[in-house]
Amino acid sequence: MLNDVEKVLISEEEIKQIVKNLGKKISEDYIGKNLLMISVLKGSILFMTDLMRAIDIHCRIDFMAVSTYAGGLKSSGVAKIIKDLDMPIEGYDILVVEDILDSGITLSYILELLAARNPASIKICTLLDKPERRKNGLQADYVGAVIPDEFVIGYGLDYDERYRNLPFVGVLKESVYRE
Ligand code: IMP
Ligand code: MG
Repeated sequence: MLNDVEKVLISEEEIKQIVKNLGKKISEDYIGKNLLMISVLKGSILFMTDLMRAIDIHCRIDFMAVSTYAGGLKSSGVAKIIKDLDMPIEGYDILVVEDILDSGITLSYILELLAARNPASIKICTLLDKPERRKNGLQADYVGAVIPDEFVIGYGLDYDERYRNLPFVGVLKESVYRE
């Protein structure tokens, strides 16, 4: 598996520091609020479990999964809920936890869906942000690291459902795509 990695973009140590800083900031910002962290499966699971340990105020967690279908050549923005939340979110201060903010299409769909359920507030926390790729004006409230437009894997992020278990974020060798 390690042979498929072109280079390490964010090391395990750097991830730890990023997560620690985000956790501290979120803990301060959400004092006296009703924090519910929502992880979008599956890419954000490692980030979610580390981030919640870096938060020292009360919080709840829930999970959802969606799939986006590319309608024809372009991404249509049509998405489907694969797994919905377990609990109603009315009155909660929602923090959507994402692995990476790319085109923003998936997340804007999720935000629309969640907003319709009357939460007290909704914010986004993403480990990685690829602003160059954005197709809408979506911006995250908490960003771990801004990265260039390269396909990354590891720390939850996959290529063909693999590499999620790498403890760092890396760039995949081109030869892997071409196989
Ligand atoms: P989008 O913002 O709707 O384009 O989709 C974001 C989703 O695409 C993320 O949650 C990832 O699952 C996936 N994704 C986008 N960029 C990458 C990448 O560089 N590596 C792995 N998955 C990615
Ligand atoms: Mg994925």
